[in-house]
Amino acid sequence: MPSVVTFIGTRPQYIKAVPVSLSLETNGITEWLVDSGQHYDYEMSKIFHDQLGLKNPDQILSISGKTHSRMTGEMLIAFEEILSDQRPDACLIYGDTNTSLAGALAAAKLDIPVAHIEGGIRTRIWNPEEVNRRAIDSISRWIFCPTHEAHDHLKSENRADVSHYTGDVMFDTLLLAKKMKPERSVIESLGLEAGRYVVLTTHRPENLGTVDKLKAVIALAREEARGDRVVFPAHPRVKSFLQDLSSDLDGVTVTPPIGYLEMVELAGNARHIVTDSGGLQKEGYFHRVPVTVANTDTPWPVLRAAGWLRLGSDDGFQPRREVGDFGDGTAARQIADILLADLS
Ligand code: UD1
Repeated sequence: MPSVVTFIGTRPQYIKAVPVSLSLETNGITEWLVDSGQHYDYEMSKIFHDQLGLKNPDQILSISGKTHSRMTGEMLIAFEEILSDQRPDACLIYGDTNTSLAGALAAAKLDIPVAHIEGGIRTRIWNPEEVNRRAIDSISRWIFCPTHEAHDHLKSENRADVSHYTGDVMFDTLLLAKKMKPERSVIESLGLEAGRYVVLTTHRPENLGTVDKLKAVIALAREEARGDRVVFPAHPRVKSFLQDLSSDLDGVTVTPPIGYLEMVELAGNARHIVTDSGGLQKEGYFHRVPVTVANTDTPWPVLRAAGWLRLGSDDGFQPRREVGDFGDGTAARQIADILLADLS
């Protein structure tokens, strides 16, 4: 029976792992799931196991809240030990976080082939995620692409031989989640009216370097709200800035981070989303809610060209059209099928 070790540890990774873990199990691939602990608050981590039924990790570390190098370095050492003990046929990682980079590097150095889910994304923002995604793709044995654009990037980098377009596992997760309901309606508990509010999220260091940068992002959302309410589920990184904001928050409801099912309800019923999260940008399209990106580029240019998202600096939206790029909800199944075929 083929075996994999999977490294996760941040909010988007718990969400992406849900359909993939299920498909691996269906295909009889044994998965040893390791949580690095990069995200540790309940609302940022365990809630996704409880809500979405993601299996419990086989091992949980607590490597978080350090400089990027220290975090990545400590993970690299710990992951090497785990991989040496487990000796899996492949190592699975998601996206572009420090947990992903450490997992890929540790595996590559032990000559364990790396499967990168959500590979091939490129932006013009040279931030930690861009560094991580380029490094990970360059050492991966399989690169699973959520969009045709991502696949094209890899072709132009001569990585076509290891790249597969599958569609987006986050779309698979959303389809699963639509069959579930949050315990309590977040719209009701916040007293909101569907279509009459804007959702704001921000966590990128580019927007949180100073309080003035955060103020500019909040102002962008308030402008978009045109008098309607802004709902702002705040990433832990935002907490330290909150006491420096006063009238900037007029009309803004700040909440702690919310669960996935609550976010599906909140984002799905919003009039508009303002965010710097790569995940929420495309979920906006999955819900057919327009998005303003609080950053200088997007990982999803196809959505910008199709009029579903604009950068904060754009004058407006391009004419709107449907996009088929994110797949048909079978990305996880395709990934597990490819792995099973190659590892058997
Ligand atoms: C990380 C990822 C980013 C991803 C994001 C999702 C990297 C380089 N970045 O960014 O790609 O989009 O996760 O949220 O890996 N903190 C808490 N509680 C938590 C989690 C974090 O208080 O549960 C604090 C940390 O201690 C740290 C700050 O928030 O001070 C930032 O956390 P970190 O994991 O470094 O990066 P993110 O901004 O979450």
